[in-house]
Amino acid sequence: MAFTFFFRDLPVIEHAVEHAVRFASGRQRFKVWDAGSALGQETYTIAIVLAEKMGGFAFKNLRLDATDHDSANNFGDVVNNAVYHYDELKRMPEELFRKYFEPNGKPDHFRVIEKLRNQVSFQYHDLLSLDPIGTDYGLIVCKNVLLHFSYEQRIEVIKMFHGALSPGGFFTSEHTQKMPKEVAHLFEHVTPNSQLFRKLGDL
Ligand SMILES: C[S@@+](CC[C@H](N)C(=O)[O-])C[C@H]1O[C@@H](n2cnc3c(N)ncnc32)[C@H](O)[C@@H]1O
Repeated sequence: MAFTFFFRDLPVIEHAVEHAVRFASGRQRFKVWDAGSALGQETYTIAIVLAEKMGGFAFKNLRLDATDHDSANNFGDVVNNAVYHYDELKRMPEELFRKYFEPNGKPDHFRVIEKLRNQVSFQYHDLLSLDPIGTDYGLIVCKNVLLHFSYEQRIEVIKMFHGALSPGGFFTSEHTQKMPKEVAHLFEHVTPNSQLFRKLGDL
């Protein structure tokens, strides 16, 4: 079972969303890919941060694609149902919990509200297939996943992300993940101490 939790690496997500929302402004559609989403805790964290930063109209134009390769643990069902035990939610700010979760009828379980669920779509996908799930992403979040791959695999996966991003789109990873020098020229570092990168040119 994947290790993850709601609001993990929140500053990384907030920093990426802040830049990506500016990028999304004025566009008809804004696509985000959460690659290696596990059971959706990260996906719905991204959705909450986006909902807080985007206007209601712009949020309706968002599509948040969550992917993971683990089908043995029914990740797809969990992400689509979006029902979580209160133990997973109790550390989140009370105000956000009340705003984005509702009782689900099952004791101590809460469901992500429809407004967020409607924008999220999960699919099984192996990053090492190097086949992107789509193109024109304004933001790709891939945290605590690349560290499981070899250095060469990381390079190929990052090249795939580059191909899947819109010109000027953003890619972010966990704080300790370094951009391999072989692909560094494909991105511009957005701020020196962050793991946020903006796509440059095309492959
Ligand atoms: C430690 S969890 C990270 C979850 C979340 N991104 C976070 O930062 O909390 C790593 C996730 O990567 C997924 N993963 C590992 N190898 C993968 C691959 N080849 N393709 C897609 N997902 C993969 C695992 O199934 C797991 O859900």
